[in-house]
Amino acid sequence: MILAINGSPKLHGNLQRMLEKIVRDTGRDYEMVHLAKLKINPCIGCVKCADSNRCIQPDDMAPLYDRIVAAEALIVGPVVYFGKANAFTHTFLERLFPLRHVHPQTIGKLAAVVCVGGNEAAKVTGEVIYHLESYFECRVVGSVHFNSATPPCFTCGFGTTCLYGGPARWMTPEEFAQFHEITPEMFLRFEDHPEIVTACERLSQDLNQAIAGLAAKG
Ligand SMILES: Cc1cc2nc3c(=O)[nH]c(=O)nc-3n(C[C@H](O)[C@H](O)[C@H](O)COP(=O)(O)O)c2cc1C
Repeated sequence: MILAINGSPKLHGNLQRMLEKIVRDTGRDYEMVHLAKLKINPCIGCVKCADSNRCIQPDDMAPLYDRIVAAEALIVGPVVYFGKANAFTHTFLERLFPLRHVHPQTIGKLAAVVCVGGNEAAKVTGEVIYHLESYFECRVVGSVHFNSATPPCFTCGFGTTCLYGGPARWMTPEEFAQFHEITPEMFLRFEDHPEIVTACERLSQDLNQAIAGLAAKG
């Protein structure tokens, strides 16, 4: 079973659709976890997880530990908020702490990262890969990132007039003065970008091969 963790609060955003394509294309069983539907607290640093490899907080992370350990591969999907993995994803990553103690449970765990941002998806992809590899010794087999060029200012209703939003900041004053309309084609979809579709398909294949390789080793 492949466990895909969607950190986006959007139910049908680019990230959700990319994750669905990747897991379906593997042809394997999968489970999709939508972090925004769960109540997961931050790590409280009590370190009471050291003995048991499980957290003492009785929240929605508790049932995830066994599923992470059992999964053939873990896919972590952040979206970029304020230049970082968004809080749903970051909290999930923090709460993996119980799995890396005296009896670590993630060494060699096959993993992948799929990230969507406005324009900083590559940076956050690298940060999440670092987290999984360096703190948890996962074997990250690949990643895909997509920049949707879609800031929240395109949906808030004030994008063409607000002086504090993204458009006013990244355009010159002359460009912003001419910016009167936000049109549907400004909301990029990964399906319209063949290089991203191909990257998703390659990641499915790489995951499949890595899982098959591990199974063959027994
Ligand atoms: C509160 C907020 C902050 C954001 N900050 C950034 C940012 O700093 N850098 C960036 O690249 N994208 C930023 N974005 C854009 C999102 O990453 C982008 O909308 C992405 O498409 C979301 O993917 P989804 O539609 O799959 O949820 C931000 C979006 C929101 C809502």
